[in-house]
Amino acid sequence: MTKTEEHYLYKKTLEKYFDLNKYKIKENPSILNIGCGKGWDMKAQKEHLKAKTILGIDDNIKSIEKAKKSFSKKEEFHFETENALFLNYFIMMDFDIIFCSHPEVWHRNNVWKEIFEKASLKLKENGYMISTFYTEKEMNITKEILEGLDYEIKTAEKNPYSVKIPGYKFKRHDYILVAEKNQI
Ligand SMILES: C[S@@+](CC[C@H](N)C(=O)[O-])C[C@H]1O[C@@H](n2cnc3c(N)ncnc32)[C@H](O)[C@@H]1O
Repeated sequence: MTKTEEHYLYKKTLEKYFDLNKYKIKENPSILNIGCGKGWDMKAQKEHLKAKTILGIDDNIKSIEKAKKSFSKKEEFHFETENALFLNYFIMMDFDIIFCSHPEVWHRNNVWKEIFEKASLKLKENGYMISTFYTEKEMNITKEILEGLDYEIKTAEKNPYSVKIPGYKFKRHDYILVAEKNQI
């Protein structure tokens, strides 16, 4: 599967599960991608949400270097090597939408539980957390974490627009969860 095909499928995913009319997203929303890796999903996220800029963070310096290199000609994409556990120390603004694709909630549960807690503090009231997963189990673990943090789960299901990975039994974005942060 080429990057263009993957981009197309992930955009279809966002169109299906995060319809901008249904969710009444304001113009030019602020978007954060936590654990963005090399930034693969961010072009589709920015395009779908019609955002002017998007910020991706990851604590893996090599991934962020690669992301910066791939997006070097597009100044609307920002990347920082940061540990999401310390989000509130290095990011001053709050976000309308936070993406987190394929969080490692299965084998690093305590760390990711804390990352979601910290992320929640950076999400505006009625903001959305959008997360995709390789497995249903990972989706359900994340759902439980978010329910404990006072989110309303809007979608938690298998995604028909998942992306096959050659030689790997799991598919990217195979399950999707959309959650709205409740008003305090
Ligand atoms: C399974 S990868 C998913 C990468 C990308 N979102 C994707 O879907 O291809 C999980 C990512 O989370 C990052 N990560 C793990 N712990 C983190 C932390 N504490 N702060 C920031 N990023 C973290 C890893 O470096 C890795 O890039």
